[in-house]
Amino acid sequence: MKDDKVLDITPDVKWIGVLDKDLATFDVVMETKYGTTYNSYFINADKKAIVETSKEKFWDVYQRKIEQVCSLDEIEYIIVNHTEPDHSGNLKHLLKVAPHAQVVATGNAVRYLKDLLGFDFPYLIVKDGDTLDLGNKQLRFISAPNLHWPDSMFTYLLEDKLLFTCDAFGAHYCDAAMFDDMVPNYDDAFKYYFDVILKPYSKFMLKAIEKIKGLEIEAICTGHGPILRRHWQRYVELSDQYAREALSMPEKDIVFIPYVSAYEKTGQVAHKIAEGIKSVADVDVEVSNIECMPLGDLDERISKSKAYIIGSPTINQNTLLPVYKIFALINPIRDRNKPAAAFGSYGWSGEAPHIIKANLKSLKLKLFDEMFLFKFTPHKNVLEDAYVYGQKFAKHFFN
Ligand code: FEO
Repeated sequence: MKDDKVLDITPDVKWIGVLDKDLATFDVVMETKYGTTYNSYFINADKKAIVETSKEKFWDVYQRKIEQVCSLDEIEYIIVNHTEPDHSGNLKHLLKVAPHAQVVATGNAVRYLKDLLGFDFPYLIVKDGDTLDLGNKQLRFISAPNLHWPDSMFTYLLEDKLLFTCDAFGAHYCDAAMFDDMVPNYDDAFKYYFDVILKPYSKFMLKAIEKIKGLEIEAICTGHGPILRRHWQRYVELSDQYAREALSMPEKDIVFIPYVSAYEKTGQVAHKIAEGIKSVADVDVEVSNIECMPLGDLDERISKSKAYIIGSPTINQNTLLPVYKIFALINPIRDRNKPAAAFGSYGWSGEAPHIIKANLKSLKLKLFDEMFLFKFTPHKNVLEDAYVYGQKFAKHFFN
């Protein structure tokens, strides 16, 4: 099916984005079972402007859509709220065919674009509160960094009361109807997108929400998924709620002991380390075999816990695949300096805890120097030592 549809948001602002209903994963890290959209917008003011471009793979369809709404040499500004290539991928093509276009973006975004594009381009760096005169319309720029890159900002079109937010308030959800009041409920996609893309940046999300309070808004024009014209307040409120939940901490500190264990030897030691910790520190300890734990649950535990002691047997001179999921989910921005340690059983070489320790160090955690390794079976003396190891860890970090 040829996707050449352009949608009116207001008489002067059109959606010229592209649909990618077959996308299976995004940024490698998240499933996109509903596909996604790369939203781009055209502002038909005295000075024509485009907000966001789209993913490079879709240049042909994207170019056709632009040519439906204006002539390429009329475009004076391309607003780049965020430079990740799913939004900026077609910028290099557009700059080559739109001879009068100037990029408008934050300083960080311009720096990133220089590396992304690899050629010089005209640009205007804007800061919080700056405005841009389009003749009969005005744009105002709102600083909203770290959603989810340091380059991000929001753009507000005063006359039409439209807020362009790129990744914020978006979802990987593809429905050609494109408006929130015309698509089925997609709350699960919205929550999953928040969890994977934005949750680690929850404190920045709350700051951004604070900054848009008081704006008169007719619609929030997102970077992915439906345009929020009917229910935008609900999606802002949900984002606020999710961010606050992510930032709320349990009453007691939690020490998380995730492990994998082929014959439950490493598991026995995990529980004994937990007993040792609890004998000397007023903390909660959560011991979990993570082999089959869903990624969302694992991420929840990692984000809520104050320390990690990770257990893995050594198999083929390595740790095991589920442990690499932990490395992928630890976020050095969120989890930096959390205490961490490694343990596990082995037969003859014992590399796994060393590999875990090296990864935890790279992820900027605060390492407990001592690891706890034992050969094959944790007999009584090993279990006693594991108990003492737990006590030492707790006394070092929690007393
Ligand atoms: Fe939709 Fe961060 O890119």
